[in-house]
Amino acid sequence: AEPFEGGRHCFRLEKISAYENENSNSREAASGGGRTVVIDHPLVRHKLGLMRNKETSSKDFRDLVQEVAGLMVYEVTRHLPLEEVEIETPVAKTRVFTISGKKLAIVPVLRAGLGMVEGILKLVPNAKVGHIGLYRDPDTLKPVDYYCKLPCDISEREIFVVDPMLATGGSAAAAVSHIKDRGGKKVSLVSLLAAPEGIAAFHEAHPDVDIYTAAVDSHLNDHGYIVPGLGDAGDRLFGTK
Ligand code: PRP
Ligand code: URA
Repeated sequence: AEPFEGGRHCFRLEKISAYENENSNSREAASGGGRTVVIDHPLVRHKLGLMRNKETSSKDFRDLVQEVAGLMVYEVTRHLPLEEVEIETPVAKTRVFTISGKKLAIVPVLRAGLGMVEGILKLVPNAKVGHIGLYRDPDTLKPVDYYCKLPCDISEREIFVVDPMLATGGSAAAAVSHIKDRGGKKVSLVSLLAAPEGIAAFHEAHPDVDIYTAAVDSHLNDHGYIVPGLGDAGDRLFGTK
């Protein structure tokens, strides 16, 4: 099957009606209240292609995950409010824009989400980082919790849950539920690859949460892996296969 990277095919999903965002390198589709934004900038697509290749080393894979996550920040933070402040250049006084006091939190889903954190922090260095530990039971494919530590002011922050893979959607949905249970209000999910099944399940569980992804693939196989996908993201990041 062909991957649906940024193509119109990703909107073939039932119940999803699509429209294109003409002014950016992204496409959006709405499903039952939730929005899916596919960030298909040429650099993102190029780097994702390298990540998919099974011959790519762990070191290169790690670097690519950081780079793609960083590139996605551009689109994920597009709505952040700005305010004007007066400064002096070496030549004259002028007014410039600054992001207006928005407090951000990045919450990686362990393990694989960790791979995206540094790439995002390079661009939003003042964000706080929480962690949610979940693994997917290989037989039931249901998420199993083992850790949760969030910034104490999580209810005041705009939160980006990061996990490279949205497969059945169980892990991401559970992570967002933990955050909401602890007071989180404004949450988005940032993944690198998503399966149609995972998008539908996630929007069903959290219709108020937008998904940003670099590509929507074809389907899940019998083991719950994304096809064509890139394999097990955690194992490829940390060389544990
Ligand atoms: C992977 C991935 C997601 C989850 C996605 O983690 O990083 O968290 O699977 O699958 P789902 O959408 O079907 O829930 P995994 O359970 O392999 O743990 P790891 O990151 O520790 O390897
Ligand atoms: N988790 C992964 O790391 N890869 C998949 O394809 C599905 C779940």
